[in-house]
Amino acid sequence: MTTLVVGARGNVGRSVVEQLVAAGETVRASVRRTGGDEFPAGVEVVTADLTNSDSFARALAGVRRVFLYAPAPEQVDAAIRVLERAKLELVVQLSSGSVLLESAVGNAIAEEHREIEEAFSRTDLPWIPIRPLVLATNDLRWDVRRPVKLVYPQARTAPIHEHDIAAVAVAALTNAVDPAAATGMLTGGELLSQAERVALIAEVVGLQPEIQELSEAEARKAFGGGDSQTDAILAFIRDAAAGGSPATDVVQKALGRAPLPYRRWVADHRHDFS
Ligand SMILES: NC(=O)c1ccc[n+]([C@@H]2O[C@H](COP(=O)([O-])OP(=O)(O)OC[C@H]3O[C@@H](n4cnc5c(N)ncnc54)[C@H](OP(=O)(O)O)[C@@H]3O)[C@@H](O)[C@H]2O)c1
Repeated sequence: MTTLVVGARGNVGRSVVEQLVAAGETVRASVRRTGGDEFPAGVEVVTADLTNSDSFARALAGVRRVFLYAPAPEQVDAAIRVLERAKLELVVQLSSGSVLLESAVGNAIAEEHREIEEAFSRTDLPWIPIRPLVLATNDLRWDVRRPVKLVYPQARTAPIHEHDIAAVAVAALTNAVDPAAATGMLTGGELLSQAERVALIAEVVGLQPEIQELSEAEARKAFGGGDSQTDAILAFIRDAAAGGSPATDVVQKALGRAPLPYRRWVADHRHDFS
């Protein structure tokens, strides 16, 4: 039985491919452009773009299960129509834990994911959303070789390793977990402030951390303007600073093990920070 992974070059998608292969599954990896990728031996690579229904339908031929990212809101109906025609056993879709966070109601990023989830839930597709709250890969934007500019440096979140998100997605794809356990809010195991995370990254790459604290107005400018995405990110950080970002036991319950520690995530990405 073949599983299609759409977004196979993404942080989570690539790990889904690798973990499916490690579990002995047959995998078709879909990328928007071919070239340069080393996927594990035996993985079939196809090109598809969710904005091009024909290419998506071709990628789905003969497939029973799919992992995909959240399609853009304006693309979701077309993507759903293609998925419906494919007669699938399972669609596992990367969504966001913010849809389960009361304080995120009205937040543009949370509302976008909610809108996409609602479109899927109106269908008869066998659909399982995977809902991480804060991705550790957000921290790849920090360059610890210079002062790291932070708004609310003490804001604490529990970022999750992409391998743990992928592990829950793979457990869902292979029926190794009760869907109810897979759809909870996924987080890492430890609440760490932004300043603590910068210090851990600096330690692993052998540098002294330096932090420059920004006001919200300065951060809005540094994040590139006053659009709704910037406001949404600022709102998440402000909420975290007020203690609103939890660490959950969903990974432990879904996988029967603790989430990978943040320090492990930094070690896995040491080359990205050096
Ligand atoms: N940041 C957070 O804290 C957070 C929290 C909760 C949920 N999330 C979710 O997690 C996602 C990010 O995960 P990630 O780091 O694994 O993402 P990523 O590394 O940016 O990968 C996204 C993948 O999606 C593919 N893609 C984008 N548009 C596509 C299209 N039209 N057709 C086909 N493929 C397309 C990309 O293909 P190419 O390789 O061709 O570009 C890429 O492989 C966010 O988009 C959000 O939905 C994020």
